[in-house]
Amino acid sequence: MGIKKEEDDKDGKNVGEDGKVDYRTEQKFAEHMKEKSEASSEFAKKKSLLEQRQYLPIFAVRQQLLSIIRDNNIVIVVGETGSGKTTQLTQYLHEDGYTGYGMVGCTQPRRVAAMSVAKRVSEEIGSNLGEEVGYAIRFEDCTSEKTVVKYMTDGILLRESLRESDLDHYSAVIMDEAHERSLNTDVLFGLLREIVARRADLKLIVTSATMDSDKFASFFGNVPIFHIPGRTFPVDILFSKTPQEDYVEAAVKQALQIHLSGLVGDILIFMPGQEDIEVRHQGLIYQIVERLGELENAPVLAVLPIYSQLPSDLQAKIFQKAPDGVRKCIVATNIAETSLTVDGIMFVIDSGYCKLKVFNPRIGMDALQVYPISQANANQRSGRAGRTGPGQCYRLYTQSAYKNEMLTTTIPEIQRTNLANVVLLLKSLGVQDLLLFHFMDPPPEDNMLNSMYQLWILGALDNTGALTPTGRLMVEFPLDPALSKMLIVSCDMGCSADILIIVSMLSVPAIFYRPKVQYQASDQVREKFAVPESDHLTFLNVYLQWKNNNYSSIWCNDHFIHTKAMRKVREVRAQLKDIMVQQRMNLVSCGSDWDVIRKCICAAYFHQAAKLKVGAQDQTLSVYIHLICILYVCGVLQEYMQCVTAVDGEWLAELGPMFYSIKHAGRSRQVFHLHTHTHTHTHNNKGVAQFRCYSFTPCPM
Ligand code: CDP
Ligand code: MG
Repeated sequence: MGIKKEEDDKDGKNVGEDGKVDYRTEQKFAEHMKEKSEASSEFAKKKSLLEQRQYLPIFAVRQQLLSIIRDNNIVIVVGETGSGKTTQLTQYLHEDGYTGYGMVGCTQPRRVAAMSVAKRVSEEIGSNLGEEVGYAIRFEDCTSEKTVVKYMTDGILLRESLRESDLDHYSAVIMDEAHERSLNTDVLFGLLREIVARRADLKLIVTSATMDSDKFASFFGNVPIFHIPGRTFPVDILFSKTPQEDYVEAAVKQALQIHLSGLVGDILIFMPGQEDIEVRHQGLIYQIVERLGELENAPVLAVLPIYSQLPSDLQAKIFQKAPDGVRKCIVATNIAETSLTVDGIMFVIDSGYCKLKVFNPRIGMDALQVYPISQANANQRSGRAGRTGPGQCYRLYTQSAYKNEMLTTTIPEIQRTNLANVVLLLKSLGVQDLLLFHFMDPPPEDNMLNSMYQLWILGALDNTGALTPTGRLMVEFPLDPALSKMLIVSCDMGCSADILIIVSMLSVPAIFYRPKVQYQASDQVREKFAVPESDHLTFLNVYLQWKNNNYSSIWCNDHFIHTKAMRKVREVRAQLKDIMVQQRMNLVSCGSDWDVIRKCICAAYFHQAAKLKVGAQDQTLSVYIHLICILYVCGVLQEYMQCVTAVDGEWLAELGPMFYSIKHAGRSRQVFHLHTHTHTHTHNNKGVAQFRCYSFTPCPM
C-alpha cells in the first residue's frame, strides 16, 4: 500500500543568519507598511493582504535576506514553492530602495506566471497593474513610465539585452524559477554572469525551489546560498500497485474516490497537457463532471483547468476561493508544479507525465512530446499537498517506476531543443565562437551545429558561420527564424502585407473554436474560409474577411472564431509592422495572386517539405510544407502536421537548391530528387525523405 516518505530534507542553514538585525530598515519597513495601510480606503482588504504577506515563510527572514543582498552582488535564494520568493523579493528590494536608481526585474519561464504574479503584486502594493508593477511578455507590454517592478518572461529580458547590453535600466534582476532551466534562462545565466562582472551596482538574485542550488552557486563563482526555512507538513505518498494503462481514467477514479470519502481539502491533478484536460476522450474535466452527475446527492465539486493557453480570465479562477461547502479540483499541467501556487490543496494526483519540447533529429525540428517526469518533478508535485496542512499524494505509477525508470532531474531544455534562435541572438551579441560560450550545461555540440546549419540554410549565416545581413535583420523580429525569414523574403516577392497577416495569425494560438454541441455547424462555417491548397491562405482569408467586416466581434461569434484571439492578431500585426517600418521594409500586397504567397512560404520552409503519397501513385507535384509542430500523442507514434501549404516541386528546386533538384525521367515526367548530403548534419534531409503518409490534422495547441 502507501509508503510514507520523509519530505523534509533541508538543512535549514542560512548563510545570512549572522544574528545582526538591521533596525534601520526594519523600522523603515514597518513605517512604510503602516503608511500604506492607513492611506488605503479599503483598509480591511489591504490589512488582510498585508497579513497574508507577513504570514509567508520569507517574511521571517526578510532582514537577513536584505542584508546578504546588500553585501553580495549575486545571491542564490532557495525556498519551497509558496514561501513567497516570487511575490515578495521584488517588493523587499523596492522597499529597501533599489528602485531608486533602476527597475527591479523578475524573470519567469512562463507567460502565465509573469502575468498572474504581476497582478497579485500590484494588488499587494496597492496600485493598478501596469503602473508601479507591470509585466511584459512577447507581444504584450503592460508597463509604463511609472513601472519600477517589472515581471517578464526570460525571453523578454534576453531580447532587452540585445538593445542594452548592460541592462542599465535595472538595479536588480531576479531570475526566478531557475530550477526549471528553461532555454532562455540558461542563456541569460551566461550573459548575466558577465554583466554583473561589468556592473558593480547590479544585484542578481537567482531563485530555485529545489535543493540543487550548489551548481548555481559555483557557476556564478561560489556565491552565497540563502535558504528560506520552509513550513511544510508531512505528505503521505501512495504509489499505484500496478502500472496504469490510462492515466486519465485512473485520475478520474482517484479524484472521485477522494471527493466521496468525506475528507476535507482541495484536489490538484497533474496531467501532461491541455488535450488530456479538455480534449482527449472529451477530457478529464468532462469525465469527472459527467460521472459525478450520475451519482445521486453527490457533494458539489468545482473542477477548474489551468494550462498556459487558457484565456487569462479563466486562469484567474483557480485562485478564487470556492463557496463554502464546495471542494475545488484543479486540473493542471506542470504549470502548477512550481510557478503557480494555489492555497488549500490537500490532495495531489500525479499522472507521472509531462510534456517537453525535444529536438527530434529524425524530423529536424522540435516536437512537443509526452515524457515521464523526473523524480525532482514528482517530489515537487507531491509537495503541493503539504502547504496548509498534512496531505496525501496519489502517484499513478509504481514505486519501482519512480525508482528505476525516472531520471533524478529533468534534462535542461538547452540540451534537448533546437537552438537556432539562441544561436542567432548570441551571434548578434558578438559571441563569435558559440562552443566557447559559458553555459552552465553546454548543449550537445551536434545540436549546436545542427541549429547553425539550419540558419545557414535560411541564409542567416554565411559559410564562415558569421551573421549575414539577412540574419541581422531576422534578429529584429521576436519570431522563429523561419517566420522572420518569410517576412523578409516577402518584401522582395511583393507580398509582405499578406505575409505579415499570416505570420501574425500564426503567432496566436487557437483562432477557431469548435463547441461540443455545435461542432457540425462550426465545421460548416469553417468550410467557407477554407482555401484547399493552404492552411496559411485560409488564415489570411479569415483575417481579410474580418477586416472587411470592420473587425467586428459579432462577425467572429457568428463564425466560431475567438474575438480575443483575433484582436491579439491585430495587435501582433501592428507590432511587427512597426519593426518592418523601422527597418525600412516595404509593405506591399500581392492582391489576388495568392500563388506568390505560397511560393514565399516555400522560400522559408523548403527544408520542411513532405511528399504526400496518395495511394500507390506518387504525387510528385503535390509537396506539402508544414511548420511549427509535430505531435506525438502519448507515446503512440502518431504524428500530426499543422499548417500545411501545397507547393510546386519546381519551387523547391529553385528556392532550396541545396536540398532539391529536378531530374527528367521518361518523356514528360519530372522526378524531384532529394540530395543526400555528406554533411554530418543531415537531419533535415532525413526528415524530408521520411515524410510520407502522416495525417494532416491540426493539433490542438
Ligand atoms: O515564489 P514562491 O513559490 O516562493 O511563492 P509566491 O509565488 O511568492 O507565492 C506566495 C503566496 O502568494 C502564495 O502562497 C499565494 O497564497 C499567494 N499568491 C496568490 O494568492 N496569487 C498569485 N497570483 C500568486 C501568489
Ligand atoms: Mg515562485
